[in-house]
Amino acid sequence: MILGILQARVSSARLPQKVIKPIFVAGVGRPMLGLQLERLRRSRRIDRLILATSVDPADDALEDLGRTEKVEVFRGNLDDVLDRFYQAALPFRPEHVVRLTGDSPLADPAIIDAVIDQHLSSGADYTTNAVEPTWPDGLDVEVFKFRCLEEAWREADLPSQREHVTLFINGQPERYNIRHVKGPQDLSALRWTVDEPADFELISIIYGELYPRLPAFSTGDILELLERRPELKTLNSWHKRNEGLARSLEKDKQAVMPPVKNAKSIAKSLAMQERAKARIPGMTQLLSKRPDLYSYGVWPGYYAKAQGCEVWDLDGNQYLDMSISGIGANVLGYADPDVDGAVRDAIASGSSSSLNCYEEVELADLLCELHPWADKVRYARTGGESMAVAVRIARTATGRDKIAFCGYHGWHDWYLAANVGTENALGEHLIAGLDPAGVPLSLAGTAIPFNYNNLPDLEKIVAEHGPALAAVVMEPIRNVPPAPGFLEGVRQLAHKAGAVFVFDEISSGLRMVTGGAHLTLGVQPDIAVFSKALGNGYPIGAVIGRGDVMDAAQKSFISSTCWTERVGPAAALATLRKHRSTNTGPHLMALGTAVQKGWTALAAKHGLAVHVGGIPPLSHFSFDREPPLTKAYFVQLMVDQGILASTIFYPMWAHRDEHVARYLDACDAAFAQVAEALAAGNIATRLRGAPAVSGFRRLN
Ligand SMILES: Cc1ncc(COP(=O)(O)O)c(C=O)c1O
Repeated sequence: MILGILQARVSSARLPQKVIKPIFVAGVGRPMLGLQLERLRRSRRIDRLILATSVDPADDALEDLGRTEKVEVFRGNLDDVLDRFYQAALPFRPEHVVRLTGDSPLADPAIIDAVIDQHLSSGADYTTNAVEPTWPDGLDVEVFKFRCLEEAWREADLPSQREHVTLFINGQPERYNIRHVKGPQDLSALRWTVDEPADFELISIIYGELYPRLPAFSTGDILELLERRPELKTLNSWHKRNEGLARSLEKDKQAVMPPVKNAKSIAKSLAMQERAKARIPGMTQLLSKRPDLYSYGVWPGYYAKAQGCEVWDLDGNQYLDMSISGIGANVLGYADPDVDGAVRDAIASGSSSSLNCYEEVELADLLCELHPWADKVRYARTGGESMAVAVRIARTATGRDKIAFCGYHGWHDWYLAANVGTENALGEHLIAGLDPAGVPLSLAGTAIPFNYNNLPDLEKIVAEHGPALAAVVMEPIRNVPPAPGFLEGVRQLAHKAGAVFVFDEISSGLRMVTGGAHLTLGVQPDIAVFSKALGNGYPIGAVIGRGDVMDAAQKSFISSTCWTERVGPAAALATLRKHRSTNTGPHLMALGTAVQKGWTALAAKHGLAVHVGGIPPLSHFSFDREPPLTKAYFVQLMVDQGILASTIFYPMWAHRDEHVARYLDACDAAFAQVAEALAAGNIATRLRGAPAVSGFRRLN
């Protein structure tokens, strides 16, 4: 199979958006690239043509164009075009690849076919008319064996070789059988490529003159036109051929590219991401699992299998997972045999029926045994909805509306109300930029934020809204320990105001001990809420509380079908029992502490400024300099070493000391590269994927 790959991107330093700029023919505008595609389709030798563009949001326009022009579009790395080419070709495993570039709207299918014919008949590895040019600039064709592309992808490590797809191949005549195709006369001084406004003007004139009469006009027709109108030849003639390549070679002098020999193919994962983007608004149901938060194009995004602390992606790559551990859900590890065994039993005995499952009563007993201050329990299945249940109970119990809160508590209206009519009140509370679109404006002012370890903040709220306050909601601990007396002070203020004091233990629960972190902090709430780790990844949420407060749940209508299924409670019982018998809490504390110390020591070793934070089981760090780039580069360097890692590490029971040791060794190498890239000022050129984004924003 002969696969034609047309590379194009919208960004262009000298002529922005050139490939989608309309060329007007008989008064009708059509994007330049659309006209080029029309010409390329006339090739009789190319079996399949794809448009390879980047994952940069600016290139969404090319995806649209591909749809209109009915040509398959692949999206990959913006700057590492070699990787983009390879990933685009990989699913087809063609014998030969034809490289075409989107700045050549006069590409000639007859010349393309002639170069392919010579390539096939000579048996060369690489055939081109571009290296020893005789045709006008803009009629370049390169044909090469897929095997050569694969070797280049694996071995090329200079920026110029990653940007200019064939440089690695055509620079090694001793290694590859290279064939140069020449035309009957030297026309190489003519410039028919488009880089500058003058180039575009020339092309527009040529199309205007020739296309209306003969859409399939040939190179001979263009030459004839130029003979008739010689002034056109000088319109753009002062620009040099291959200026882009010269600039790129200049970059090589400053860059020491890290080896990308370990770069994995994640073609299937990337293809799935593109499918998901078309079908699932926002791509995933959870912000924290969006690949753009890590490095779009590098982070695999999808898994085929997960076991212990290892994950296999869709392309069969195996990783040690030292990242978010299911964003804290998998506290024991993936596919834990004890929890999965309990779930299998629950399924085998019917996971749902007309009657209730008894496991929810056993679970309520166990939760109250672990938290002796609590008497009663209600269930949901996710963290956010469990928090909504807790808030409803508090509002019902007090007959009041307002909630004072600190930290992140989910996506529901009661919480996002804090951002209604304000300038990002939630910006300080874990996730910035949460858009309250769709939350009724009438909820403005019902959720009022205060800051952790800042009692005067809450005092002010109580002074102003005390009699209207239904609840004070907060995580007991997350990033820093509570200042002496802070939690006690919050409790006192809440009770003085007659409000319900709620601890959100969705992330902090089951991290330090078996149960809520508040058990170690010596402060009792009226309600505590669990989810995430409670089911080791199976959906379950629990709202536990003092009997007098919880009884309000009988007055308000709080009811849902799937809250009665059996898998969640069965998983939670098994998780809590194993967590307690293995003493998982101290294990997570020890591993998290080792990693935090490792980050700090390695950052000092490599002269990197980092900020390390979080309770050890919810550890995180950030690079002070250029965080979107440094984070993406770190992610990439770790993925290349077979480790899923971001700037967060949530330990699991399945993690052992040797995993931490392997991880810190890999961090050592990665930090060295990050430091070197920062010193060289060329970190952006080293990225195969997009820089990491932070906070909530639209995924294009
Ligand atoms: C403290 C806290 N509360 C609530 C939630 C929301 O839980 P879920 O994502 O299960 O809806 C989270 C999730 O990260 C959380 O960390």
